Amino acid sequence: QWYFDEDGDLSALDGKTVGIFGYGNQGRSQALNMRDAGVNVIVGSRSDASADKSKEDGFETLPLSDAAEKADIIFMLVPDEVMPAVYAEHIAPNLQPGNVVNFASGYNVHFKKIVPQTDVDVIMLAPRMVGQGVRDTVVAGVGFPSLVAVHQDASGNAQNTLIALAKAIGSTKMGVIESSFEEETIADLFNEHFGFLHAVRQGVEVLVEKGVSYEAAILELYASGEMREIGQYFVDHGLFEQLKLHSRTSAFGQLAWVRPNEAAEKASKDHLRGVIDKIKDGTFADKWDEVQKDQMKEFAQTEADLKAQPFWQEEIKLYKRLGRL
Ligand code: NAI
Repeated sequence: QWYFDEDGDLSALDGKTVGIFGYGNQGRSQALNMRDAGVNVIVGSRSDASADKSKEDGFETLPLSDAAEKADIIFMLVPDEVMPAVYAEHIAPNLQPGNVVNFASGYNVHFKKIVPQTDVDVIMLAPRMVGQGVRDTVVAGVGFPSLVAVHQDASGNAQNTLIALAKAIGSTKMGVIESSFEEETIADLFNEHFGFLHAVRQGVEVLVEKGVSYEAAILELYASGEMREIGQYFVDHGLFEQLKLHSRTSAFGQLAWVRPNEAAEKASKDHLRGVIDKIKDGTFADKWDEVQKDQMKEFAQTEADLKAQPFWQEEIKLYKRLGRL
């Protein structure tokens, strides 16, 4: 189900103070949009460059705990990795029955890294748009889509609050889709895990194996910017319709010629099913916790191993030559 501007009633927010916790990519844009919509917005931030920016933008800016005490509706917009600690230290001790806690990602609630008390509403307003775009598309009068969900309805009014907030951040102009914390989490992680980076890496490696230089392979597959253009075609025209903007030779090659045979397609889908299973059963989230607790040692080691390979070194050389590094 979709919700649009006419479904949202901003009077549901009358007399309420919205607290933005984390004035970063999403926080700043959502705060500015809500203020423009007439909502009373304050910012909770640790003292850093974001807090300076928030003051510069004219928001009442308080330490996290003070803002949590003052706000009726809490927007959790700090990075997902630090959110459980920020919630436990600053938000939970200051929550009042009837408050609303809103997340821009389902991750921490779905994996129970944050379990809010039962007498508050817990909702999700997850923009399908990068932070700057959340502001720019609203200023341009277009808006952006979001996935929305109610996880816990203590007040009996969570749905109305959710759609009013979706309208206030400017998302119901384009429309918001009813979802769930689980669906948003799985789809978002899958987008990151499904293998785009490694597909490009393998493409370069095989081209090099077959005698193409690193420079030519990297330029061809991404450094030229052609991929960005094609990505924009995907966005503007759709995965299949954008093929009309390519030569017929290219369209035939992409759509029909390299279509994997049945066995290869099954193997590739089986791999992707495994990727989703590890997201769904929490294997990834547990592993990520473990890596962070171990001071990111495993992550740093994998990065160092890859960086020592010729590909990464050749990429650095090329990007220096292109004046981009
Ligand atoms: P961000 O990386 O821009 O960080 C926001 C702010 O958090 C920073 O400005 C900083 O002041 C504060 N912060 C960082 N570490 C902190 C700590 N240890 N203690 C207290 N404050 C700290 O965050 P971003 O990218 O806006 O993400 C916020 C939420 O929005 C996340 O849940 C993310 O999944 C979600 N989201 C992000 C999107 C994006 O395009 N960036 C898109 C859709 C959802």
